[in-house]
Amino acid sequence: MLSRAQFITLDGIDGAGKSTNLAVIKEWFERNRLPVLFTREPGGTPVGEALRGLLLDPETQISLRTETLLMFAARQQHLESVILPTLQKGIHVVSDRFSDATFAYQGGGRGVPLSDIAGLEQWVQQGFQPDLTLLLDIPLEVSMSRITQTREKDRFEQEQADFFTRVRNVYLQRAQAAPQRYALIDSNRSLSDVKTAIEAALDRHFGI
Ligand code: TMP
Repeated sequence: MLSRAQFITLDGIDGAGKSTNLAVIKEWFERNRLPVLFTREPGGTPVGEALRGLLLDPETQISLRTETLLMFAARQQHLESVILPTLQKGIHVVSDRFSDATFAYQGGGRGVPLSDIAGLEQWVQQGFQPDLTLLLDIPLEVSMSRITQTREKDRFEQEQADFFTRVRNVYLQRAQAAPQRYALIDSNRSLSDVKTAIEAALDRHFGI
């Protein structure tokens, strides 16, 4: 068993099945009787949730730099007031998205230079990184068809296929570059196969 509280993130392109699999992760923590806090980005704090409202609203018109800075503003508050204090209390934290999403969406999707994002990441996180990132991956066609089925599309979901191709590529490149941090989960399978893969990744990470 690991001695210190772990910071785990769940990420991937829209439609990859995060919501369903968050329930799998919750069950896993309950079954193993490990204390955990579930949170999300952008969001997780009052200011973060207010920024989320702005960032996801299709009516919002902002520049790429502003969008990137607001993602990191929400993250700064989330880290200071929720993530780090919770980990210090010995409680694990699972975040539905974190900085990988900024590299993928603002970097890959929108074209903000990845080195600029890395600079902001360093300023905000000071080297702090998730201990494990569960990266859900699905082919683009599957992502697009799942997004189309959702009732109202948010500002990101309204983007086109080429945007999501670039988002997915950055996620995959990041997972390839640091395989020790990522568990790449093929989410284009039956729910029970994906569940088994997530549970196996958590078992392995926690040495259970
Ligand atoms: P979701 O929580 O339903 O996935 O919605 C969050 C949206 O915000 C999703 O489309 C990805 C996007 N996003 C970014 O573009 N950059 C970020 O840094 C984060 C955390 C999310």
